[in-house]
Amino acid sequence: MVWWRHDVVYQIYPRSFRDSSGDGVGDLPGILEKLDYLADVLGVGAVWISPFFRSPMADFGYDVSDYCDVDPLFGTLADFDRLVKEAHARGLKVIVDYVPNHTSDQHPWFVEARASREAPRRDFYVWRDPKPDGSPPNNWLSIFGGSAWELDEATGQYYLHTFLKQQPDFNWRNPAARAAMLDVLRFWLARGVDGFRIDAFHFVMKDPELRDNPPNAAAHAAFHRGLGAYDLQLHVHDVAHPDLHDVLRDIRRVLDDAGAEGSERVAIGEAHIYDPHRLCAYYGAALDELHLPFNFGLLKAAWQARAVRTVVDAYEAALPPGSWPNYVLGNHDEPRIASRIGEDQARIAMMLLLTLRGTPTLYYGDELAMHDVPIPPDQAQDPWGKNVEGLGRDPERTPMRWDAGPSAGFCPPDAVPWLPVGGDVDRINVAAQRDDPRSMLTLTRRLLALRRAREALFAGAYASVDHEGIPETCYVFTREAGGDRVLVALNFSNDACEVRLPGVRLGELLVSTHLDREGALGEGGLELRPAEGCVVTLR
Ligand code: NOJ
Repeated sequence: MVWWRHDVVYQIYPRSFRDSSGDGVGDLPGILEKLDYLADVLGVGAVWISPFFRSPMADFGYDVSDYCDVDPLFGTLADFDRLVKEAHARGLKVIVDYVPNHTSDQHPWFVEARASREAPRRDFYVWRDPKPDGSPPNNWLSIFGGSAWELDEATGQYYLHTFLKQQPDFNWRNPAARAAMLDVLRFWLARGVDGFRIDAFHFVMKDPELRDNPPNAAAHAAFHRGLGAYDLQLHVHDVAHPDLHDVLRDIRRVLDDAGAEGSERVAIGEAHIYDPHRLCAYYGAALDELHLPFNFGLLKAAWQARAVRTVVDAYEAALPPGSWPNYVLGNHDEPRIASRIGEDQARIAMMLLLTLRGTPTLYYGDELAMHDVPIPPDQAQDPWGKNVEGLGRDPERTPMRWDAGPSAGFCPPDAVPWLPVGGDVDRINVAAQRDDPRSMLTLTRRLLALRRAREALFAGAYASVDHEGIPETCYVFTREAGGDRVLVALNFSNDACEVRLPGVRLGELLVSTHLDREGALGEGGLELRPAEGCVVTLR
């Protein structure tokens, strides 16, 4: 089985994982220090490291000014090479971010492009004349607030930026620009990376005529949560033009050329698309685009058994034959799961994530049930939150907690972390939870080990179970491969309940989210305590 189907991916936000240098910001040598934790303590198979490339940090690395170098804040290329070598020595794959939709405004390509209308690389970006009244060329909006167009006074034209004005959109319709951005992939592939997480991929191709978006009379959210004024338009023309498929096939070809059998390189794509059919289109008609278009369905689902089951079943049904599913419960852009649904239900969520069919992506700190940390306005860092009130992402980006010491062991004791560590450090840290037989970390480790050990879990078919004996607060599904059959029963309520399954021959309880029982079960059903989930073998 190819590794990216089998392995669990762990997302590291490098600013926040481990600061080895003492400047309050995490770095690559810090990640290197923690590889044993990832490989041996936790037991994940791959790490995805969010951007560590040269950047003015207007969007904390998602504004890249040199795609082929490491920002000094995070270390050096030699540190990266060492990281890949050491990760591989421990059997860990390394996935890096790829930011194709926009560069930094400090990238030499943009600096050259904005120098004059005749600049050879002017067309690497999207430029248009103002309307006769001087206003922007069309009505497109930036996700991060305001118009998506910024006037460049010197040359008298506007440039497009889907995100910050410091993140000018790259023009993938220009063949030289496209070739240059594809070369970035080759640079990292040659350094041994195992794949890419492709940032905001569906924005890469827009309407070539740059037509206005129509108004959204219903004002429903464009994505999974309200984005303010952005939701007052229907985003028909500024995203996901059909030519995008051609770009994804180009990217995929570069990866396929680099990966022989046994060393396949993975293409994971980030887009907030919640309609399973639209999302699944990005596997490609011949499965020749993304291996894993991120499935964010669980981020949007109301935390109720039926709602979650519906999201999973609809997605499973939409998957093209031969494609492989994936699930995400959190990342650096989303409120933490433990804050969204509470710590008890976060254990259910972890069991769900690690027992569903498909590749799970686990956000750093969720294995400890880290919470969002409230950030006082004078310490706010995220530009989005500064532009649009309530949309800041600092709370989910706070330092990883390694121990109960100063700054939770994230940085040397005399350093000040770039974001506050937050409360509850005594309880929510790796050292405190590692040997606690009932901790969230222990649960996560148990589930990861179980997933590695059981073919039903890492490879088996999925089927949700319908039965009148299942209370509506419970979600029950089976996984099955060859002779290996397991049943997962999750109680989404904070009341006890009984799952009655007459005729179903339950075998052994392998793990409960409460971590206090296992062993043989009788016929016909099982009792679940409040917020309890169980993985059970079937005979
Ligand atoms: C999605 C990334 O996950 C987010 O953090 C970033 O701000 C935008 N893309 C822009 O690159």
